[in-house]
Amino acid sequence: MMGKELGLEKLLVLFLVLISVRYSEELQSSQVKTLKRIQHLLNYPTALNSWSNETDFCKMEPSLSVTVVCYDENITQLHIIGRKGTSPLPRKFSIRSFLNALAKLPSLKVLRLVSLGLWGPLPGNVSRLAALEILDLSSNYFHSSIPQTVSSLTHLQTLVLDGNRLAGRIPDGVGSLSALAVLSVKSNMLNGSLPDTLRDLKNLRVLSLSRNNFSGDVPDLSSLQNLQVLELEDNSFGPKFPQIGSKIESIALSNNKFSASIPEKVQSYYQLEHFDISSNNFVGPFPPSLLSLSSITYLNVAGNKLTGMLFEDNPCNTALDFVDLSTNLLTGTLPSCLLSSSRNRIVHFSNNCLATEDGSQHPLSFCRNEALAVGVLPHHQRHKPASKVVLALIICGSITGGVILVCLTILIVKSFLAKKAAKNTTTRSISDDASSLYTNKLFTDARYIAQAMKLGALNLPSYRTFSLDELEEATNNFDTTNFMGEIPNGQMYRGQLRDGSYVTIRCLIMKRSNSHQNFMHHIELISKLRHQHLVSALGHCFQFYLDDSSVSRIFLVFEYVPNGTLRRWISDKHARRKLTWIQRIESATGVAKGLHFLHNGIVPGIFSNNLKITNILLDQNLVAKINSYNSPILSENFGKEYRQTFPVGYNQREKYEEKLDVYDFGVILLEIITGRQINTRNDILILQNQLQASITGKGANVVDVAIRSSCSGESLRTMVEMCCRCLHEDLVNRPSMEDVLWNLQFAAQVQDDYHSTDGSPISPLQPSSQLIIR
Ligand SMILES: *[C@@H]1O[C@H](CO)[C@@H](O)[C@H](O)[C@H]1NC(C)=O
Ligand SMILES: *[C@@H]1O[C@H](CO)[C@@H](O)[C@H](O)[C@H]1NC(C)=O
Ligand SMILES: *[C@@H]1O[C@H](CO)[C@@H](O)[C@H](O)[C@H]1NC(C)=O
Ligand SMILES: *[C@@H]1O[C@H](CO)[C@@H](O)[C@H](O)[C@H]1NC(C)=O
Ligand SMILES: *[C@@H]1O[C@H](CO)[C@@H](O)[C@H](O)[C@H]1NC(C)=O
Repeated sequence: MMGKELGLEKLLVLFLVLISVRYSEELQSSQVKTLKRIQHLLNYPTALNSWSNETDFCKMEPSLSVTVVCYDENITQLHIIGRKGTSPLPRKFSIRSFLNALAKLPSLKVLRLVSLGLWGPLPGNVSRLAALEILDLSSNYFHSSIPQTVSSLTHLQTLVLDGNRLAGRIPDGVGSLSALAVLSVKSNMLNGSLPDTLRDLKNLRVLSLSRNNFSGDVPDLSSLQNLQVLELEDNSFGPKFPQIGSKIESIALSNNKFSASIPEKVQSYYQLEHFDISSNNFVGPFPPSLLSLSSITYLNVAGNKLTGMLFEDNPCNTALDFVDLSTNLLTGTLPSCLLSSSRNRIVHFSNNCLATEDGSQHPLSFCRNEALAVGVLPHHQRHKPASKVVLALIICGSITGGVILVCLTILIVKSFLAKKAAKNTTTRSISDDASSLYTNKLFTDARYIAQAMKLGALNLPSYRTFSLDELEEATNNFDTTNFMGEIPNGQMYRGQLRDGSYVTIRCLIMKRSNSHQNFMHHIELISKLRHQHLVSALGHCFQFYLDDSSVSRIFLVFEYVPNGTLRRWISDKHARRKLTWIQRIESATGVAKGLHFLHNGIVPGIFSNNLKITNILLDQNLVAKINSYNSPILSENFGKEYRQTFPVGYNQREKYEEKLDVYDFGVILLEIITGRQINTRNDILILQNQLQASITGKGANVVDVAIRSSCSGESLRTMVEMCCRCLHEDLVNRPSMEDVLWNLQFAAQVQDDYHSTDGSPISPLQPSSQLIIR
């Protein structure tokens, strides 16, 4: 089978035997000399013992250790295979002289020099062997990196460098070897990420990179329509499952750092024979249909965190020789087809949560707590056949108003099975470190500016993953009494966590077309948008479709901000109390700080936030928090807007979009000052004119009566002026957010110095020293 043994050696020997019989010729004497020199430079290896002065090289019987093939008086193939474990050639050996000798065989198409003790850096001059189609230098002592110049070996079809000491990255130039069908560099010390140019190797059939130090995600290989063998074992690849074309026959990913779920597409790999993803951190449902893939013979998913339910009647391919499901979180019953077989099939399934009597499974207590925490089906539905479960889910889903409650949910938990954790920690604390999984990889360009900007005095628990159980408990199974309203793409609920704290839960329904990684990017972003003046996310929970690994729903858990909207405290006719002038300045400052953070606290910044006074909430201390910001995942057009939100050359655009937010901020100020609800653009124009007129004494006073007598003239004037500048028609004339913040601070200070007769029904907020820009 391709996956286990390329059989290259045998193939080649067969091939060259055929050729040598037909085309043997008298060899040019210069080439005979070259062979002698090669023998000398190789320090007379035993493989070449048969070479003597009388040898007619072109008529030699090919053997496993040495073969020379001639065509038209030229040597076209040279194979020399030394003994395994041959030690390095003596110090005097020079790879350069050796290469110079080889270069005297200009027609050389096949060169195999295996286990000969060759050492030195792979010379850049290897490109002089321009006719090469097959180059195999395995099991030598080549070190340093693979030279860029290999890219000029344009006829190369097979490049095998296994078992050397090569280091560094695979050079980008490899992508220009358009004829390359086999690339194998197993057992070296290569590292870094793979070059994206691998995508260009349209003829590639075998990609073997096992036992190196590669890292990062595998570039998208789905355009390699001929790829049959992908061997990546024993590296640090991850977290995403590689994207592969549908003709793949062998996938070997064991012992890497993959931590995503198995993509749906795997179930369409009809030629897949060998599938080994063992010893990674794969999560999500194990698709039982893998057992019945049309060509599968070897299936190993051991040592992951795969969940899902197996059923007695799951079908399997009769050709399956080896199945290892052990050490996952599978529930249900082992399919009977795996056990009842006349074949010599090997099946492992220990350390799961399957219903067996043999004591091979995790203890019941573990399965109840740990496995359920990652969203496996509730106990009472465990032993029903699949179709009924799905039906039950649909019914249950429609009863509870569109929320399918009992689905496979996955907590992506990093060190979930770590032995210590499994013993005595609760599910909760295991979930706690989950956010560390969403590593910088997914959001590398988000750098965070000044430390001080980052958090303010945030009294929030750290971001984490929630389990669906937890959210159901918090919302009393998403009871209608906890329903807060519809939002784009979903609903919003209020809930109370076990620790007593209140949260709001946004439940977003996802289209199948959205990839998992796409979400992760946005989730990562949301998890970082934590600021005193933003309604911040506390965590999330994914819900997956039963039949594949795609995300069906995302629950985003936010802090609950209890005191309603800013409008309620400014211009609501039914408001019991209104904010004092200084409290209004504080609120405006809070909004401005939140906005400033969105613009500058994270790169790329978040602009065009479509700020409205109804989207500003006040917490128990009347601290203002921006409730909705321009986060793609929360927007109606999620999936379409992606590029808009993270533009590439965003520098100019930022300036422009910042000013859009400044305008919206001006509208909020206008309402804060006048105490009148502003709902249309016309409202803005009229009120702005009136305000300008009244401040110059030319018109009726439109400043809110509730604060008119208690605010200092200078403070009011500062605010009005700034409000008008924010609302300026011309973007360029609108102030920057920094400018806004300084003015707000000034307005607060002069108000503070003004000994007001404030008689406020509400105790003032913090002193103005708080108003320093963070
Ligand atoms: C082979 O040729 C070399 C010189 O070309 C000579 O020194 C050596 O004695 C020859 N060996 C035999 C076995 O004829
Ligand atoms: C063999 O080599 C000679 C000179 O090195 C060259 O002229 C000739 O074209 C070669 N033949 C083939 C088939 O490569
Ligand atoms: C390649 O070989 C030539 C001659 O053998 C030598 O002059 C040149 O320096 C070599 N170039 C490199 C990059 O090694
Ligand atoms: C891989 O890299 C790690 C550190 O990054 C190092 O400890 C290890 O020895 C490397 N392995 C190989 C085979 O080079
Ligand atoms: C790769 O290995 C080299 C040393 O061989 C080291 O300098 C470099 O930092 C490594 N790169 C990565 C990405 O690990």
